[in-house]
Amino acid sequence: MTIYLDNAATSFPKPETVCAAVDRALRLGAANPGRGGYRLSLEAGRMVLAARSAAARLVGMPDPARIVFVANATEALNLALFGALSPGDRVVTTSMEHNAMVRPLRALADRGVEVVRVPAGADGFVAPDAVRKACTPGTRMVAMTHCSNVTGTLQAIEEIGPWCRSQGILFLVDAAQSAGLFPLDVVDMGIDLLAVPGHKAIMGPPGTGFLCVGEGVQLTPLLYGGTGTRSMSDEQPDELPERLESGTLNVIGLAGLHAALEFLHEIGLNRCRVHERDLLSQLMEGLRRMPSVRLFGPTDPARHGGALSFTLEGLDPAAVGFRLDNEFDIGVRVGLHCAPEAHRTIGTFPEGTIRVSPGWFNTSDDIDRLLAAVQLLTTG
Ligand code: ALA
Repeated sequence: MTIYLDNAATSFPKPETVCAAVDRALRLGAANPGRGGYRLSLEAGRMVLAARSAAARLVGMPDPARIVFVANATEALNLALFGALSPGDRVVTTSMEHNAMVRPLRALADRGVEVVRVPAGADGFVAPDAVRKACTPGTRMVAMTHCSNVTGTLQAIEEIGPWCRSQGILFLVDAAQSAGLFPLDVVDMGIDLLAVPGHKAIMGPPGTGFLCVGEGVQLTPLLYGGTGTRSMSDEQPDELPERLESGTLNVIGLAGLHAALEFLHEIGLNRCRVHERDLLSQLMEGLRRMPSVRLFGPTDPARHGGALSFTLEGLDPAAVGFRLDNEFDIGVRVGLHCAPEAHRTIGTFPEGTIRVSPGWFNTSDDIDRLLAAVQLLTTG
């Protein structure tokens, strides 16, 4: 059976309860929530509310109505950026961002938004003080990832968000690689906008995710349309979540997301994090023993999560990925990981790296088998 080590792209497999919830919703409960007074629709509405409440609990948002369901973290980031920024605004971001942040910011820069990029160090860490210093008066937003999808570097957002709040600067955090692994509290961390995928460490189905919109933040919608509320008016409602959720929701996916959030709640974030950290430590130790391996990212395990990147001297990462798959049945993601700036920062552009990202269902044996395969590739 394939050893899947690409959980930073999407987690696999999913918990049995998630599969069962999707199956059950598809067969028995996929009516349109909030669009009818009959029992099936009301039941679907209750399930969506339960998913919203579970999502709010995960990120410390007291008001579940401020959880807006979207298809993925990319949509959440687009909604936050296009919804909050206007020509003339100034945004501070970092050199470790994924294209889900980089490309909307580039499109906004083309429309007159000033974008300032703070460089990270070679380990991918962005000094909080450098972010603060880049925020000249009039800065509207700081927009950055919590955990790099390339190096797994965990940024010190808890040292940036509260300061942004004190300055009246919006703080947007991309939690694509941290939600479901690291504790998040939008209130304590001063986060105004938090983009969360449902299908990565949370272990829900693809096609799910949410944007958590802080108290007092008003966004322009990306989509306008039917919400099941205020149907007599041709204007988009002001209330959340309806203002930002037009059209039929992904009820099947949300049933799975709800089950995933419950699963995560039962096992506890800390257990997930410790399991992942142990596997990454085992991997790091094993790779360090191989002279031709070059490791990237932080050495401090407290600042490292999600993924580990490395290269092998004289070997093209793309060829290594191909051989790991074809000769050893091991799935990892190689190349630029949709984050070319991050690779420029750590000096691995344009070839990229070999990225390994273990998940909840990986075992120590999986890591041993990967290490044995890498050993063979480097000596064979
Ligand atoms: N953003 C995902 C990754 O890093 C898809 O692989």
